Amino acid sequence: MSLAIITGGATGIGSATVRKYASEGFDVALIDIDREASLKHCEEDHLGSVTFFETDVRNRKTVEASVASAVKKFGPPSVLFANAGIQRLSSLFELKTEDIDAVIDINLKGTLYAVAAAAPYMRDAGEGSIVLMASDQVFAGKPGSLSYGASKGGVAQLAKSLSVELSPLNIRVNAICPATVKTPLTDKIFEDLGIEKYSGDTEAAWKAETESIPLGRIATAEEISNVVYFLTSPEASFMTGALIPVDGGFSAQ
Ligand SMILES: NC(=O)c1ccc[n+]([C@@H]2O[C@H](COP(=O)([O-])OP(=O)(O)OC[C@H]3O[C@@H](n4cnc5c(N)ncnc54)[C@H](O)[C@@H]3O)[C@@H](O)[C@H]2O)c1
Repeated sequence: MSLAIITGGATGIGSATVRKYASEGFDVALIDIDREASLKHCEEDHLGSVTFFETDVRNRKTVEASVASAVKKFGPPSVLFANAGIQRLSSLFELKTEDIDAVIDINLKGTLYAVAAAAPYMRDAGEGSIVLMASDQVFAGKPGSLSYGASKGGVAQLAKSLSVELSPLNIRVNAICPATVKTPLTDKIFEDLGIEKYSGDTEAAWKAETESIPLGRIATAEEISNVVYFLTSPEASFMTGALIPVDGGFSAQ
């Protein structure tokens, strides 16, 4: 069996991706900070196994230790999905230093730590495929999302630089750029937005978002995990350094 390492696999898009790889027969190393939500995946029945490694991706040494433990148990990873991320909305004028730090530390530095931890094993094995979680904010600015947009722009650039550096080692690196997906992260955002702008009507906040997407609906986590799986499959063997919108046409407007 092959090993897939997935960061931020406890909930949302990461959770759907853990289930996708495990159902396809991969052993999955679920790297996340949320113990309770992660352990639920380990109890489920899949073709492959799911093992949880409690990890804060802000801590490079812990990320390295978790990846090393996974490799010791399952062998070198053929797949890394560096997906762990957070959002902290704030206008420029109210921006808190701790929120800038948290977003950059988790979304950008945490992504690089995961790649730096996994890639040496892929190099030694002579193959590997990496998908980085970016966002539609690689292509479009959104109000109140400065640190997040900057972190995802950085992740997109990482995909390009990494693909150039790692191609000679037969390691492919791509980034996916989803528009809004229904997950615990966005549930909280749209609840807050409903309170702030729609007199407490969360549904009205979701409706306005839906109207900004040409396909006229919000993506499911599974619609994103299917693309991640494709990108790491042999069917995508000539794809590297690509920034892939999975956004119902949002960035085409
Ligand atoms: N939901 C969307 O609309 C959307 C759109 C584009 C990109 N994304 C990106 O997708 C990724 C997943 O987001 P989601 O919407 O599934 O949200 P989510 O909150 O459901 O998932 C985020 C995961 O990351 C984990 N995590 C957070 N901080 C961590 C840390 N310090 N160390 C380890 N794990 C940590 C969480 O525990 C959780 O499992 C994020 O990078 C997000 O920016 C989401």
